[in-house]
Amino acid sequence: MVEVLQGDCLELLDSFEENRFALTFLDPPFNQGKDYAYFDDDQPEWAYWDWLGQVCAKVHRCTQPGGAIYFMQREKNAEFVLRTLRETGWTLQNLIIWQKKTSAVPNQNRFGKQYQIIAFATKGKPRVFHRLRIDLPPEPGYKQPREEGVFVTDCWTDIREMTSGYFAGDEALRDLSGERIHKQQSPVALLLRILLSSTNPGDWVLDPFAGTGTTAVVAEQLGRHCVALEIDPNYVEVIRTRLQARRSADSILRWYPYYRFTPNLESIWQVEVTTEWGQGSHVALTA
Ligand SMILES: C[S@@+](CC[C@H](N)C(=O)[O-])C[C@H]1O[C@@H](n2cnc3c(N)ncnc32)[C@H](O)[C@@H]1O
Repeated sequence: MVEVLQGDCLELLDSFEENRFALTFLDPPFNQGKDYAYFDDDQPEWAYWDWLGQVCAKVHRCTQPGGAIYFMQREKNAEFVLRTLRETGWTLQNLIIWQKKTSAVPNQNRFGKQYQIIAFATKGKPRVFHRLRIDLPPEPGYKQPREEGVFVTDCWTDIREMTSGYFAGDEALRDLSGERIHKQQSPVALLLRILLSSTNPGDWVLDPFAGTGTTAVVAEQLGRHCVALEIDPNYVEVIRTRLQARRSADSILRWYPYYRFTPNLESIWQVEVTTEWGQGSHVALTA
């Protein structure tokens, strides 16, 4: 079951009962001056982190004991992320480096930036953690074929970010003139890894900043329930249309062989055999 609710997550989070969610994916605006219709993305640092502290505390309240949060941010904010999670009761498990496979942001006086952080923390001891194995291609010169794949570590180098323009690929949602609908759309492969690692089928997943609804799209396919909150009514419409459209570009099935070495894969990834997927990757979304 997927519920898509329009509104300010700070208010909506109060409406959920305690201990409801097994996992939250937190991908807020990054306060870097982007053009959001319903969010001031250029706030004083203290105001922005005070706000995110309130969000993290409210998510903590409605997370079940042992439940997880995956909090995505710019690497330059690592210090704030760790402090905010600690001060709102979360226990850090990993600071994941997501190296995005795309070109680095060039810099004159320091190294070019090529990764984002995802802080994985839990409410006490983790309730669920599945050690995924992937069929990562060996490094050049590696002599032995890998017969059982490798465990996923805290460095994720195999998931491509959706960039602007052509390289965003089929997965990127576009309007009728071909423009990206939401520049911060997360890749399906990213949410697949997060949900597979820290939830079981039947669990409830929360996304307070749902954007285009990637979390809901993946949760539904994996047999997890999801509540998606989004303040912008246009994006709420996008999420609903996307869920109905079942675009082939959103299917998680193409990743199944990549995770095939995971010992309990069949029990955590219940393959939907009856699902009918749309033919193309495009759907007329007009937001
Ligand atoms: C970085 S984007 C999330 C992108 C998302 N992960 C995806 O896959 O599309 C952040 C989203 O948060 C929404 N937002 C901003 N303030 C909000 C609030 N107070 N409550 C709910 N949503 C909010 C923005 O409209 C934007 O769509």
